[in-house]
Amino acid sequence: APAPGAAGRAPLPVAIGHRGVPSEAPENTLASIDRAAELGTEWVENDVQRTKDGALIVVHDTTLARTTDVEQRYPGRAPWKVADFTLAEIRTLDAGSWYDRRFAGERVPTLAGYLRQVDHNRQKLLLEVKAPELYPGIERQLTAELDRAGWLDGDHVADRLVVQSFDAASLKTLHALRPDIKKGFLGAPQAADLRSYAAFADQINPDHTKVTAQWVRDVHALKGPHGRPLEVCAWTVDDGDDAVALARLGVDGIISNTAHTIAEALADE
Ligand code: G3P
Ligand code: CA
Repeated sequence: APAPGAAGRAPLPVAIGHRGVPSEAPENTLASIDRAAELGTEWVENDVQRTKDGALIVVHDTTLARTTDVEQRYPGRAPWKVADFTLAEIRTLDAGSWYDRRFAGERVPTLAGYLRQVDHNRQKLLLEVKAPELYPGIERQLTAELDRAGWLDGDHVADRLVVQSFDAASLKTLHALRPDIKKGFLGAPQAADLRSYAAFADQINPDHTKVTAQWVRDVHALKGPHGRPLEVCAWTVDDGDDAVALARLGVDGIISNTAHTIAEALADE
């Protein structure tokens, strides 16, 4: 839920660390969420996919080429799809050197390890199921893994977890399995279509360029599956003035590569 604002003014949008804090540390790594925690960022966003042997891991692209040294390590295995590598192979990759030598040896996190670290840091998680069409059955697997890690107990599921996706069908599957998990649809449906999303989504999370004050009012006018008004978390905004403008449009959250600086800009406004 959004942080309460100062008395007499609308609540400030929550600043959510997109892939951790990629302006300071390699995206979607434990180093990135640790740095975000040091900078005071409570909510972090990540991306979850599945390895060839069925392990859930945290990585954004559907190939490993951009954010690891896989091309050097496995030159014959282009295009280096996440789904074509085992967990053991992926865990040997360097997910930090491409960003900065200071992060050499950083690994692609398992979801289980990532969840432990988010808990350790007392952070909250906006977990994106990335490209679920590539990973049939990932929704059931995800709920089992969240459950095993203690993330479906009362406190976590009520206050510390939202699962989001661009794929409405995947969110509906997840909703049928675990209606208690809050869900976010990534996109900006037209006002007339919003009601159908409110059946399974608690948030509608649009590209920030699509947001208008009227659209935010239309979203807020609907109640989600948990009986509360739908929320809006817009992405991806790194400029303080843009964040302030979005706050004035009424959004509840802003997903940012520099969430700590956005939070400052919002607080100063
Ligand atoms: O959280 C919203 C945003 O992460 C969606 O886009 O490509 O960064 O996963 P992408
Ligand atoms: Ca994402």
